[in-house]
Amino acid sequence: MSTLHRHFESIGSTNEEAKAWARNASTPAPHGAIVSAAEQTSGRGRRGRDWVSPAGKGVYLSIVWRPKIAPPQIGQLTIVTALAGARALKEISGLNIDTKWPNDLLYQRKKIGGILCEAEIRNGEIEFVVAGVGLNANFAPEDLPKRLVFPATSLLMATGKPFSTAALQSACIQALHAEYARYDSGNWSTQRAEFIRRCAIIGEHVFVRDEQQEYSGIATNIDNDGILIIQTATETRRVLSGDVSFEKQN
Ligand code: BTN
Repeated sequence: MSTLHRHFESIGSTNEEAKAWARNASTPAPHGAIVSAAEQTSGRGRRGRDWVSPAGKGVYLSIVWRPKIAPPQIGQLTIVTALAGARALKEISGLNIDTKWPNDLLYQRKKIGGILCEAEIRNGEIEFVVAGVGLNANFAPEDLPKRLVFPATSLLMATGKPFSTAALQSACIQALHAEYARYDSGNWSTQRAEFIRRCAIIGEHVFVRDEQQEYSGIATNIDNDGILIIQTATETRRVLSGDVSFEKQN
C-alpha cells in the first residue's frame, strides 16, 4: 500500500476521514489519495441516509481529487466515479452493471453500489472533491437494512458466489484512477455518453422527489454539467437534487 493509500480495519466513514486528510494543514491528502476500510461504523449515503457497511460484505472507499473545474461541473465527477464503480463490478463478476442518475449502480434494477461525492469550495473555487464508493459484494438478504428506499442486491445475491473484497477494492481503485485520467484528458463527452447508454432511467417514466415536491415525467437526457433532464406533461426540468425512482414513493 502506498503513502497515497490509508486503509483502516474499522472507521466511522471513509469520506469523513478523506475530508479530514484533505484539509490537514501540514500533510494534506494529494490528488488521487485513497482511504479505504474493511468496515464503517457510520457510513453515509446521499441525502443524510446511513450506508450499512459490515466487514467482509462490501467495499468502502473514498478518493480525493483536486480538479481544475468550476463548482457547477461537480456533477460530472459523480458520473466519472459511477463509471469506475460499474467497471470494477463488471471486471470482477462479469455482470452487466447499469447506472441510475445521479449516484446509483444497479444490477437488474436493484441497487448494487452507490456514490457519494462531496466538494469543499473556498472563494468560489473547488479545494477538493471526495468521491466515496460503496459496493455490495457479499451482502445476503438478511444483511441488508429492513426498510430500504430502493430495492438492493449484491454480487453474492446476483450470482450465488462470494467475492474477494480485496480484489474488488483493488479493481475499484484502478478504475477510479483510469476514469479520472480519461476525464482529465478531455473525454468527458464520451464518459457522459457511456453513462447515458447504461443509465436505466433514460427514456423511462420516473418519479422525482426532492425536499419540496414530487413530480413525474420522462427522463430524457443528462446535460453537460451532469444534471438530469425530465420532460413532465407541462415543462422541461433540470433535476438538481432529489431521489429518482421507477415507482411512486410512499
Ligand atoms: C448512496 O448511494 O447514497 C451513496 C453511498 C455511498 C457509500 C460510500 S461507502 C464509502 C464512502 N464512505 C461513506 O460514508 N459513504 C461512501
